[in-house]
Amino acid sequence: MTTRLLHLSDLHFGRPYLPRVGDTIPGLAAELDPQAIVVSGDFTQRCREAEFRAAANFLKRLPDVPVLTIPGNHDVPLFYRVLDRVRSPYAFYRKYINEELDVVLNLPGVKLVGLNSTKPLRAIKNGRISRWQLEFSAEAFADASETDWRIIVAHHHFAPAPDYEGSDFMPKAKRAMDEFNRQQVDMILGGHLHRAYVGNSLDVYAGSPELERGIIVVQSGTTTSRRGRAREREKNSFNVIDLEATEVRISHWLYFDHIQRFCEVSQHRFPKPSRRALDCDV
Ligand SMILES: [Fe+2]
Repeated sequence: MTTRLLHLSDLHFGRPYLPRVGDTIPGLAAELDPQAIVVSGDFTQRCREAEFRAAANFLKRLPDVPVLTIPGNHDVPLFYRVLDRVRSPYAFYRKYINEELDVVLNLPGVKLVGLNSTKPLRAIKNGRISRWQLEFSAEAFADASETDWRIIVAHHHFAPAPDYEGSDFMPKAKRAMDEFNRQQVDMILGGHLHRAYVGNSLDVYAGSPELERGIIVVQSGTTTSRRGRAREREKNSFNVIDLEATEVRISHWLYFDHIQRFCEVSQHRFPKPSRRALDCDV
């Protein structure tokens, strides 16, 4: 049985949003027929109510399947809106996107835990995962079955891109990664960098006895805004993730202006990393 996830990110409703690109997503999403959709943060550009309303309307046009969302740094008020930032940083996100900021989604054979990596009350660049959030994910995974895929979703990235462009990653990322290893997490989905990459935590962090194959890292570019960077400068992308019992296939889709549509440009295949599935049959 395959469980398909559609992974979108960094929609950035507001000035950077590209309607001609965004308008292709609902129809394509229906064709791709995912069991669930993940949107890894930055629904808006300036955390304005009209932007959130537009983002909520966009979500309503997607297929009627569970949608896992988490906020991005652009979904909380900027520093100059200091009162909003301190008193009610998530007011619009809670009203239009989701009341909850840290979330769990159960699908057949898959458990996803979304963690809010924004920290508007602290001047932290590139987000942070708190200790209590690591406890939240531990608790969520505690009742996962031995064969379930365990997936973390967070806006900010835990590891730099392979070419190290935009390489400032989350402070205390190693602490979080070590804990995710202990929790036998298989895969992490994220955004924020506005460029896609697919890799493995072993590209950056040494392996550990708890999880010798590392954690699969899947970043999405900006799906619908003009804010693409580095290799995806002014480009738009998303990922399709097919989870099977013992492996995952991740396909990366890029928007091509001259034909005005997204096309699949690469596929990545990984065996299920967790030690629960380490018995190699080769
Ligand atoms: Fe963003």
